[in-house]
Amino acid sequence: MSRAAVLCGLGGSLPERIVSNEELAEQLDTSDRWIRTRTGIGQRHVVAPGQSTSDLAVAAGAQALASARATAGQADDGADLVDPVDLVVLATSTPDRPCPATAPDVAHRLGLGHVPSFDVSAVCTGFVYALATAASMITAGIAGRALVIGADTFSTILDPADRTTRAIFGDGAGAVVLRAGDSGEPGALLGFDLGSDGSGADLITVRAGGSRQRSVPGPAAEGEEFFTMDGRPVFTRAVLDMSRSSQSLLERVGWNAAEVDKVVAHQANIRILNAVGEQLGLEEKQIVANLDRVGNTVAASIPLALRDAVAGGELQPGHRVLLTGFGGGLTWGSAALVWPELETGRPHR
Ligand code: UT7
Repeated sequence: MSRAAVLCGLGGSLPERIVSNEELAEQLDTSDRWIRTRTGIGQRHVVAPGQSTSDLAVAAGAQALASARATAGQADDGADLVDPVDLVVLATSTPDRPCPATAPDVAHRLGLGHVPSFDVSAVCTGFVYALATAASMITAGIAGRALVIGADTFSTILDPADRTTRAIFGDGAGAVVLRAGDSGEPGALLGFDLGSDGSGADLITVRAGGSRQRSVPGPAAEGEEFFTMDGRPVFTRAVLDMSRSSQSLLERVGWNAAEVDKVVAHQANIRILNAVGEQLGLEEKQIVANLDRVGNTVAASIPLALRDAVAGGELQPGHRVLLTGFGGGLTWGSAALVWPELETGRPHR
């Protein structure tokens, strides 16, 4: 046995407003039929004006902390049996502001005191990167207990006239709590595989707003403040890189694909999930999919899929779980764990 980071809490949050495919079809040259058959998405949630990534991150974080408290239980005198969180890592590509990071504000609003907190930017792979970062800090003894959040509000950076990206992306946040434990416990993160390829940086991008092309003081070239994606090559790379990353992690962990109970992949497109399943030789029942209800929620996608799979009874304690993500950068990453027994608690706030 060795020191490991152990997943011990899970939460998520979606904005109230739901935009159906039919509603999109009233505004754009698209249809429910096209969106469902080409992506598997039926609806997505979008933030209200003024609602930001940190608002969703705080709600998801509060739920994950409540779940960790309920999972740990209470002492006879009613006191919580959990140590305070001493690290917050937030994966997002839609921070509240370009500077400073959004994580310190989230930690402050959750009442976590002066804990170290920072953002991780790896677009749709962000949650896996944040998980690996927090787990490494726990195994290195730098942190004892971490809140890891994936939160994005892509509706705030989409071109209102772009039917492709508006059909796919939705807003949301998902979160987990990690604690120090040992590698033999259910919930222990057993390994990671991470990678990137910057030669594909232009395939998924927001061109303006950074140091290469400021949108202030001069105006950005028209439309360059919006998110753009070159769908077809991204599709191909997503299948290839998630399959390769999954395969190499499975070899490292010593599982074969048939032994994995649930693969929770980044929820970008049902055809991508099926193609990854085919590459790995998986059966349909091994693949978790919630994108019909939430779309592609970027860094929130994997933890929200975990939350929905637990809520629906599809993901059970003892299941061998493989997480795999792919996104802008290009970036990809996978993680493996045996699913632990978790309670859902009531958030204090
Ligand atoms: O999350 C990070 C990683 N992202 C992904 O993994 C996304 C990967 N890419 C995809 O999921 C798919 O490429 C998309 C869903 C983005 C697009 O699906 P596609 O089957 O690859 O479509 P396409 O881009 O090849 O376009 C086919 C046709 C085009 O029309 P023409 O040129 O053939 O006349 C598009 O203009 O479909 C058209 N189209 C649409 N039609 C109706 C594109 N979007 C729409 C739409 N409604 N929403």
